[in-house]
Amino acid sequence: MDDKRLKRIFLVTISALCLAALIAFIQVRIETTNAARTDVVAEDFGGPFTLTDHTGKKVTEKDYNGQWRLMYFGFTFCPAICPTELAKMTKALNAVGDKANKITPLFITIDPERDTVDVMKGYVASFHPRLIGLTGTAEQIKKVAKEYKIYYAKVDDPAMTEYTMDHSSFIYFIDPDNNLRAIIRAGDDAGVLAEAINKAID
Ligand code: NI
Repeated sequence: MDDKRLKRIFLVTISALCLAALIAFIQVRIETTNAARTDVVAEDFGGPFTLTDHTGKKVTEKDYNGQWRLMYFGFTFCPAICPTELAKMTKALNAVGDKANKITPLFITIDPERDTVDVMKGYVASFHPRLIGLTGTAEQIKKVAKEYKIYYAKVDDPAMTEYTMDHSSFIYFIDPDNNLRAIIRAGDDAGVLAEAINKAID
């Protein structure tokens, strides 16, 4: 082979590789864009827990395995974010008709000191008749929050008589095999969640 031919083969190969890389890049971009909302796969998400529901019954993760779930971590004394997100959950459930019956909505407190069984009982009833409130000991809450990648911390505000809580705010949509199917953030409206539910459940 002469040098010219080698050069041409080299250039053709490089061009083909660049094109293949570009196509791969575009495909990855498309996939990550679509994945952002409905097919989130988080490594090492969830795990075993023992908590107490708002009726005073001891429950574990096994009580909810095999079910579609909506899961939100927050606290009943939260002035704005938690009630807004729980209302969003209710709105989405109301928007999907009968599919809502296949979903177990869970609200887990990150403020077990104040969120006793009785407090939780009164609170969940104001959002959805099937919303389950879960509380526990400080250790139990710490464990479940860690498993579900939730940050929380007590904040003492000198301007207020009561402390408040700083915490992550995500509505998790989880399938019966414990896969995270969607994360609804504060900026997303109920329609985003309703769409994720409609897409996932027949
Ligand atoms: Ni809150």
